[in-house]
Amino acid sequence: MTTRIAVLTGGGDCPGLNGAIKWVVKTALDPLLAEHRSTKFEVIGVREGWKGLASVNPDDEDSKKYFLEPLDEEKVRTWDRYGGTNLGTSRTNPFNPKNDRSDVVIENIRKLGIDVVVAIGGEDTLGVAYKLYRRGIKTIGIPKTIDGDLVGTDYSLGYDSALNVITEEIDRLRTTAGSHNRIFVVETMGRHAGWLALQGGESSGAYIILIPEEPFELARVFDLLQVRKGREVQYSIVVVSEGACLKGEGEFCKDERLDDFGHRNLGGIAAFLSDQIQRNTGFESRFVILSHLQRGGVPSARDRLMARWFGIAAVDMIVSEDFGRMVSYSHGEITSVPMKEIINRIKTVDVDKYYDKERYNGKRTIL
Ligand code: F6P
Repeated sequence: MTTRIAVLTGGGDCPGLNGAIKWVVKTALDPLLAEHRSTKFEVIGVREGWKGLASVNPDDEDSKKYFLEPLDEEKVRTWDRYGGTNLGTSRTNPFNPKNDRSDVVIENIRKLGIDVVVAIGGEDTLGVAYKLYRRGIKTIGIPKTIDGDLVGTDYSLGYDSALNVITEEIDRLRTTAGSHNRIFVVETMGRHAGWLALQGGESSGAYIILIPEEPFELARVFDLLQVRKGREVQYSIVVVSEGACLKGEGEFCKDERLDDFGHRNLGGIAAFLSDQIQRNTGFESRFVILSHLQRGGVPSARDRLMARWFGIAAVDMIVSEDFGRMVSYSHGEITSVPMKEIINRIKTVDVDKYYDKERYNGKRTIL
């Protein structure tokens, strides 16, 4: 008997995805492990996430060639060293009520003889995996999001690499900020969760950190900057999350568009804030939007390791028929949680625990 595993990546790309794919493949096809299993495995990669399963025509060889890639150990040998996703990704939601393609996805899965789908993604991608599971498809989730907002796990792929990018870029900005006595406002990603801004700001020693969970006052930002300028160094780094907002006001959006999962395209707050600082304090100010640089480059050591463990765990779960669950990292151990528990929720920063509302920075008591 052969079990056909399909693996796909959905949502925003990031470092760690290729490693997770590699370790699903290597663990599933491992010859030593195979001796102890009652089933053999075959692994195919699905291109472009759920879009691939919604768009592939199982009766057309060219379409199958485009959307499906048989994977073996040799093919994925070096994948864990590279960022992005070699399978491609999309933000396609087959359950979008405006264009519901869930029946097509289910029919395609059946026609293609796919026994299990391993979906690597954040809450959106795994939400689809869970809905398919409810419709009788065997699915398993692997957590991925640079936003760090997935519940049910203490770690999601991509987060550590993104944090490293933020830290490295801020290190670079410091020399130019210091040379010119300027304020630099750095905008991070993260949507409605402030983890990247908070921990990126903390690890790089930013002076002010603004997060979505605690709307801020401009006047307080100006005061804090004045205090620092008058005190020691002549420059400051302000980290602002793309989802942060002024007290009583909404978030900054680049346009009116909504994606397939109903998300707005956030961004623009750094430009606004930098301008306000310059106008109201007289300090020269510049801004940098780190944008997709945070999702680029090679995976950090942590992302490589977690990708490996998550990929292996996903196959363990297939062997033990633990479907409808997401691999999870909890209290230092690899485990799993029902996907039901992780959908339609996000993990945001607990302000009372981690954020100093007066200092607009990470808290200075920790125990
Ligand atoms: O969810 C990951 C993320 O990088 C968010 O932090 C950001 O708001 C969004 O994706 C950007 O999406 P896109 O890649 O579609 O521009």
